[in-house]
Amino acid sequence: MNATGAIGIFDSGVGGTSIFKEIHQSLPLESCIYLADSINAPYGQKSKEEIIRLSKKNTELLIKMGCKIIVVACNTATTNAITELRESFNTPIIGIEPAIKPAALSSQKKIIGILATKGTLSSELFSKTSELYTQDVEVIEVIGKGLVEAIEAGKEYHTETKKLLRSLLAPMLAKEIDYLVLGCSHYPYLIPLLQEILPPEVKIIDSGQAVAQQTKNILATYRALVSKPQNAPKFYTNKDVQLLRHFVPNPEFEVSYLDF
Ligand code: SIN
Repeated sequence: MNATGAIGIFDSGVGGTSIFKEIHQSLPLESCIYLADSINAPYGQKSKEEIIRLSKKNTELLIKMGCKIIVVACNTATTNAITELRESFNTPIIGIEPAIKPAALSSQKKIIGILATKGTLSSELFSKTSELYTQDVEVIEVIGKGLVEAIEAGKEYHTETKKLLRSLLAPMLAKEIDYLVLGCSHYPYLIPLLQEILPPEVKIIDSGQAVAQQTKNILATYRALVSKPQNAPKFYTNKDVQLLRHFVPNPEFEVSYLDF
């Protein structure tokens, strides 16, 4: 592994910038390249074959750009395509899965909610993880229909989005969950609205920090952590540069259009 290569991150759109933020905070010296495949968002309603095809296309491009490790910052792509990606590429690949295990283990009421895409909730990988950790826990699964679209339209604080969230969360509120698992990398951008809707005792968890830690561990195993600052992170989108810029945490980071 070339230690000075960048960490390659891709998502179906802008949501994976929530994962980038955790990685950059944990590994500030590393260079990152982020691909937002917004033209194909959302992945959550697509067939498994199509999700695999798009994930391979993104991974191939990041490897061509010299990335030393790939982070699939999309739950739908991870749960549907990670096995095929690992079979097709030699570069280490890290995925993101809903944080069911910590929620199930920490829940006092033993009732948790999971908000994720149809593609994630119907995947084999999700069912296996869920079966493993939630035997004594009631799990309220809700498909976040329309939420990725709202965020991809820059409406993460919009009143329409709040209305949609309120109706999606109704079954979870009725069951009085004590943990809400965000099973999509776009959803951390909804935390301010979620906190307005959910009772204060409901804890919201996502997988961003765990993915950053895993990235650090794998790079350490390969002795591929850099000791001096590398190039500043770069962001590419195949749709709307202004939208991606809105989600990039530092205005000095380069954000460009790329036809991929
Ligand atoms: C989507 O593109 O539908 C959502 C991305 C994710 O599952 O994280």
